[in-house]
Amino acid sequence: MTTTYSSRVPAAAAPAGIAAARATDLSKVYGQGETKVVALDRVSVEFRKAEFTAIMGPSGSGKSTLMHCMAGLDSVSSGSALIGDTELTKLKDKKLTKLRRDRIGFIFQAYNLLPTLNALENITLPLDIAGRKTEQAWLDRVIETVGLSGRLKHRPSQLSGGQQQRVAVARALASRPEIIFGDEPTGNLDSRAGAEVLGFLRNSVRELGQTIVMVTHDPVAASYADRVVFLADGRIVDDMSGPTAESVLERMKNLDARVRTN
Ligand SMILES: Nc1ncnc2c1ncn2[C@@H]1O[C@H](COP(=O)(O)OP(=O)(O)OP(=O)(O)O)[C@@H](O)[C@H]1O
Ligand SMILES: [Mg+2]
Repeated sequence: MTTTYSSRVPAAAAPAGIAAARATDLSKVYGQGETKVVALDRVSVEFRKAEFTAIMGPSGSGKSTLMHCMAGLDSVSSGSALIGDTELTKLKDKKLTKLRRDRIGFIFQAYNLLPTLNALENITLPLDIAGRKTEQAWLDRVIETVGLSGRLKHRPSQLSGGQQQRVAVARALASRPEIIFGDEPTGNLDSRAGAEVLGFLRNSVRELGQTIVMVTHDPVAASYADRVVFLADGRIVDDMSGPTAESVLERMKNLDARVRTN
């Protein structure tokens, strides 16, 4: 039997209805009165399964807020946010915590590693907390690819910033969550380590069907993604498939110009 899709399904050809995460008319307002800030203004966006999406935009455009609202780390002011078929805004705290733990992986700028645990213990911590068994072959592969094999017994304070970031990446991948959200996951790495981690993230999408959404300021980092969503002033202003560093840079320049003239 022939199959309709090649192993690399182009982003645009992905069948409808298989979004890993979705926001509909999502707004987020911080504060009130004079300090009121509309961080997100009726954003609708879908992140398809097994796709690597980068989110870009000027500082303060709402990238982190969008990610936090879609990952259930922050409440929304109006609209909806779904992980798979689960509406986050309807969940009580306990269920939300469980959903974050079981179904979402996080990679943040501040690595959130526990100082008293060594690298390996930090990587497997979410699995241990969830009482899930480690898939050893997968774990070995993750550890080797992020280049931590010789550092597993080291505590975070004994690791460089880049190595700590790689522990955080390995930790997010270890449980094979439905979706991984990263806020500048390679922001603190030198270009070689950054390229390795980005290559690994991309491979985990291509070969293992992992879904990844990553905020970045770096057009080169964004070029590893299948798609780039551009935010400005809390709104989605552009959506690009098959980005290259050059095409992203060009789009960013236009965006900056647009923001300046507003
Ligand atoms: N807790 C908060 N209270 C009040 N305002 C906030 C809060 N968090 C974010 N904001 C505001 O919301 C807007 C969007 O912030 P956000 O952190 O999402 O931007 P960003 O695109 O991630 O920026 P950066 O690239 O600098 O990280 C900004 O104007 C910011 O000042
Ligand atoms: Mg941010």
